[in-house]
Amino acid sequence: MERRDFIHVCAASALGLGTQPAFAAAADAQPRPYARTRLTDESGQPLRVSRLSVGENYVFHYPFEGTPCFLINLGKATTQNVTLKTGNGASYQWPGGVGPQRAIVGYSAICSHQLTYPTRQISFISYRDHSTASKISKPSMIHCCSEHSEYDPAAGARVMGGPAPQPLCAILLEYDRASDALFATGTLGGEMFNTFFSKYEMRLALEHGSPARAQQRVAGTTTVTALTRFCKQQVRC
Ligand code: FES
Repeated sequence: MERRDFIHVCAASALGLGTQPAFAAAADAQPRPYARTRLTDESGQPLRVSRLSVGENYVFHYPFEGTPCFLINLGKATTQNVTLKTGNGASYQWPGGVGPQRAIVGYSAICSHQLTYPTRQISFISYRDHSTASKISKPSMIHCCSEHSEYDPAAGARVMGGPAPQPLCAILLEYDRASDALFATGTLGGEMFNTFFSKYEMRLALEHGSPARAQQRVAGTTTVTALTRFCKQQVRC
C-alpha cells in the first residue's frame, strides 16, 4: 500500500468510514473549502456567466492543477437542496446550481467508478444535453463511456445508472451578480483525489511536468476551456 493510500485509509478509519458502516451512515460529508478561485476565459479575462453556451461541456482545473472539473450551463434551474450519499454512506446536501437562473453547475470530471477523466488526448466522460433533441427520449446526463456510469447534473450528479458507487464530487461555485463572474470555493461530496493521484501518478507527471505540479493547489485563477478545444477526441457511446 502506498503512503498516500495508507494515510487515506487511516483517516477513513479514524472517521469511522469503510469498516464501520453504521457509524459512516450517521456521518455527514461536510463542504471542504479550498482557495477562492476566479474562473477566467482562455484569454485570461474574468469568465462571464452570460457567455456560457447552454449544454456545452467546459473544463477547468480545481482544486488541484491536475484535477479536471466540468462547468455546465444546464439552461434551466436545477433542483435545490438535494440529499445525496457518498460511497461510504455519509450524507450531504447539494445546494443547487448558481447564476441568474441557478442553472450553472460544477463537478469533478473524475468518474467515481474507476476514475476515468478527460485528458488532452481523449475523453470518455462528458455531459450529454438531450433537452433539444426531439428524437432522443433520454434525460440529459453526464455519461462515462468506460462502463456507462450516468450522473444527473441537475441533481448534484446523483448516480442515474451504471456501476458508479457515488455521485461526482461537486465543486462549490459562487456567483457575483454585479460582475457576472464565477468563483470556485471548495468541494462537496466524495472526493477521490488521493486515489486519483496514486492511480495516475505517471500520466499526470507527463501531463503536468511532475507529480508535485499535478497536486499543486489551484489559487488565484483557473482557466475555463470548452471540452472540444481542451481534448482532441471525445468518445461518444
Ligand atoms: S470509469 Fe466511469 S463507468 Fe467505469
